[in-house]
Amino acid sequence: MVYEETDAGAETECVFQIDQLPTVKWGPALIRDELGEDARRLVYPSSAGTCGRVALFTDKAVVNLEIFEDARRSLEAAGVEYVVYDEVTVEPTDASFKHAAAFASEGGFSAFVSVGGGSVIDTCKVANLLSRHPADLMDYVNAPLGKAVPPPGPLHPHIACPTTTGTGTECTGYAICDISELGVKSAIAHKYLRPTMALVDPHAVKSLPRSVLAASGFDVLSHAAESFTARPYTSRARTIPGTDRPLAQGANPWSDIGCREALRLAGLYFERALQDPDDTEARAQLSWAATLAGVGMGNAGTALPHGMSYPVSHGVHQRNAWKPPDGYGNVQGAILPHGFAVILGAPAAMRYTASASPERHLEAAFLLGAYVQGAQPEDAGEVLAGRVVELMKVAGTPSGLAELGFGMEDLETLVQGTICQKRVVNITPRDVTEEVLRGVFTEAIEGYW
Ligand SMILES: [Fe+2]
Repeated sequence: MVYEETDAGAETECVFQIDQLPTVKWGPALIRDELGEDARRLVYPSSAGTCGRVALFTDKAVVNLEIFEDARRSLEAAGVEYVVYDEVTVEPTDASFKHAAAFASEGGFSAFVSVGGGSVIDTCKVANLLSRHPADLMDYVNAPLGKAVPPPGPLHPHIACPTTTGTGTECTGYAICDISELGVKSAIAHKYLRPTMALVDPHAVKSLPRSVLAASGFDVLSHAAESFTARPYTSRARTIPGTDRPLAQGANPWSDIGCREALRLAGLYFERALQDPDDTEARAQLSWAATLAGVGMGNAGTALPHGMSYPVSHGVHQRNAWKPPDGYGNVQGAILPHGFAVILGAPAAMRYTASASPERHLEAAFLLGAYVQGAQPEDAGEVLAGRVVELMKVAGTPSGLAELGFGMEDLETLVQGTICQKRVVNITPRDVTEEVLRGVFTEAIEGYW
């Protein structure tokens, strides 16, 4: 940590903040053994007991898995009344968020449980928000696309049980969706969206299909790398006392702890998990890495690769052309899992941002398992991007956006769909202009091998 004395009139930030986290539990069989009692205590906080029931969120794939049966049995054993909502859309949209919110509003629930990947947990966060504090969805969506109105108060309790190894959303105050009418992805970001409790159960990822494992592994890797190399918190304007710091504060000593360890675990276990579907230890370690990266990313913010992923994800929906080889059979039409969308922009983005902090880019590469001996600062972008490309080849991702049907005729749409993502553009360690985006997207379209 760099420490410098600050004058009373200094204009740049000198304080970082650690917000309250959910209660995080990690360990095997947590959902089977502890979910029910944890939910009961949230629904019936007083010994006198109040009438209440739980909305149990999932999707059409997870609802058929053993882990979901574990969740049901655990709730039933604890005497918790629940209603299942299994209509969550993979890669949610504003319409699917509103559908879920209508269910939540009609049900009059007093607590929420989500069992699924990032789409399920994010949908549950927003259904909780809109049923607790009704408003138009766009009122809460980030500016400039939405009005970024802060929720007027806390939400109902929410226990998030992730079933993938990547999003880390169980620890963050973000919910991401595709805004259909505007043609881009955006987010709602507020600390009140953070779940009350996260149950991270490695049993939930034991049978994860390889494509889902790959996509979520790239998401965790990129969360950690983006937040670790993000603009430092000291580069922001000083926070006016009495006002809130943004969720995305920039890299800081607290976020660095989670990001470094997440990168180290991804370096040790991601390739192993990809190569051997029975390597349950590797999968379990990745589930911990995802939570750690979620803590780091939720505190520091994501940067350019996430910003680039939003118009890519939206564009893929329009094409009806591509689907990962397994794990997304229930999804109608084309789908590019979030982690793939992110990683397809990451090598180009890393090459661009490396000169802002070559030592951090090199350290990230080292933690991910790259050979860095003798590397000079000017090599940092190439070394980190090269390691990511190696992992992409192992996972069998597309080599670039052209493989998904994107061409140079899409360049302007991709550029405009990224430049408006102020939350992530502002945290990127080098200035992001339209010209810069044309360069990085050209590289991403042409492909990396
Ligand atoms: Fe992500």
